[in-house]
Amino acid sequence: MRIIRLAAQPTLDTLAVTRAAIPTPGPGEVLLRLRGSSLNFHDYLVVAGHIPVAEGRVPLSDGAGEIAALGPGVSGWTVGDRVMGAFFPRWIDGPPNRTNNNAISGETADGFAADHVVVPAASLTPIPDDWSFAEAATLPCAGLTAWRFLVAEGQVQAGDSVLLPGSGGLCLFALQIAKALGLTIWSTTSSDAKADRLRAMGADHIVNYRADAAGGETIRAGTGGEGVDLVLEIGGQSSFVQSVRACHMGGKVVVVGTTANGAPELPLGDVVMRNIRVDGIAVGSVAQQRDLVAFLTAHDIRPVIDRHFPLEQLADAFRYQLSGAHFGKIILDF
Ligand SMILES: NC(=O)c1ccc[n+]([C@@H]2O[C@H](COP(=O)([O-])OP(=O)(O)OC[C@H]3O[C@@H](n4cnc5c(N)ncnc54)[C@H](OP(=O)(O)O)[C@@H]3O)[C@@H](O)[C@H]2O)c1
Repeated sequence: MRIIRLAAQPTLDTLAVTRAAIPTPGPGEVLLRLRGSSLNFHDYLVVAGHIPVAEGRVPLSDGAGEIAALGPGVSGWTVGDRVMGAFFPRWIDGPPNRTNNNAISGETADGFAADHVVVPAASLTPIPDDWSFAEAATLPCAGLTAWRFLVAEGQVQAGDSVLLPGSGGLCLFALQIAKALGLTIWSTTSSDAKADRLRAMGADHIVNYRADAAGGETIRAGTGGEGVDLVLEIGGQSSFVQSVRACHMGGKVVVVGTTANGAPELPLGDVVMRNIRVDGIAVGSVAQQRDLVAFLTAHDIRPVIDRHFPLEQLADAFRYQLSGAHFGKIILDF
C-alpha cells in the first residue's frame, strides 16, 4: 500500500509516498481502507516541521473510508461500513483531559496519509449514506471545531452575533452552522471576490482585513458600538487585538490557532477593562462529531470543497493551501 511517513526534519520538499505492508488490526481496532482526507492548517504545521513529531510519523488528521477488517473483540461495526476517523482518537465523550487528548491523529499518533490505517474502533463515526468520502473527510478537524465553538461550548442562541475570520475550512463550516442557528454573522476576508462568496453563503456583514487594519473598531462601530457576542480567533500577528476590539463588553473570544510568526500582540488592557472572556479550544470528542453529523444532515448542510489532489501531490496541495487561493476545504483523494 501507499503511505507517507515524515522525515526526521520534515519540509514540504521531503514529503514522499513510499510502500508498506497492509497492517493488521489488534484487539479493539479496525483496518480502514482510506478513500479521502482533507488538509488543515495544523497538518501543514506538522509536515513543515513547525510542530515537532517523531520520525516516521504518518501525517494528516482527517480521514474517511471503508472498514476493511475487524480486530478481535470489535462489535458494532461491519466490514464495508463507511466511516470517518477522529482528530483525538481516544477522546470518545465528556470533557477533554490529559489522557483522552494524548493521541492526536497525524501528530502524536499516526494519521491518515496511507491507503490503509489501523485505528481504534471506538474512534469512528458513520458517514451519512448520501455523502461522498471527500465530504466526510472534511469533518473531523474543521467541521467539529466549528461545532464545538458555536454549539457544544459556545451555547449560542438565535439572534446572537458571531465574528468569523477568513474563508478557510473551519470558518466556512462555522458560517453554515451559524446561519442555520439564526445568528448574525460578521465575516472578515482578504478579497472582494471571497467577500461576494461569503455574502452568498449568508454572511450579514463583511470586513476586508487587508484593506482595514483597524477592522475590530469597524466591526464594533457597525454594531452600534456594542460589539459581537462571540468571536473566533485564529491567532494572526495582530488579529487578537482586532478580535478583542470587535467583541462585546463581557463577550467571549475563543482562540483556536497560533498562526503568527513570532509573538502575537496581546491587548491585555482591553481584555481587563472590557471584561472579555478568553477561551481556548482544540477540536472535539467523538460524541460531538456524531452530534455534528446529525445537525448537518438535519439542516441539509454540505461541506464547501475547493479542490481535489491525489495523495502523491500532497506537497502541492499544501503549497496551494499556503497560497490562500482556496475557499473551503482542500481534499486528498486516495
Ligand atoms: N483549535 C482547533 O481546534 C482548530 C481546528 C481547526 C483549525 N484551527 C485553526 O484555525 C485556523 C484556520 O484553520 P483552517 O484549517 O480553516 O485553515 P485554512 O483552510 O488554511 O484557512 C485559513 C484562512 O484564514 C484566513 N486568514 C488568514 N489570516 C487572517 C487574518 N489575519 N484575519 C482573518 N482571516 C485570516 C484566510 O481567509 P481569506 O482567504 O478569506 O482571507 C485563510 O483562507 C488556523 O489557525 C488553525 O490552526 C484550530
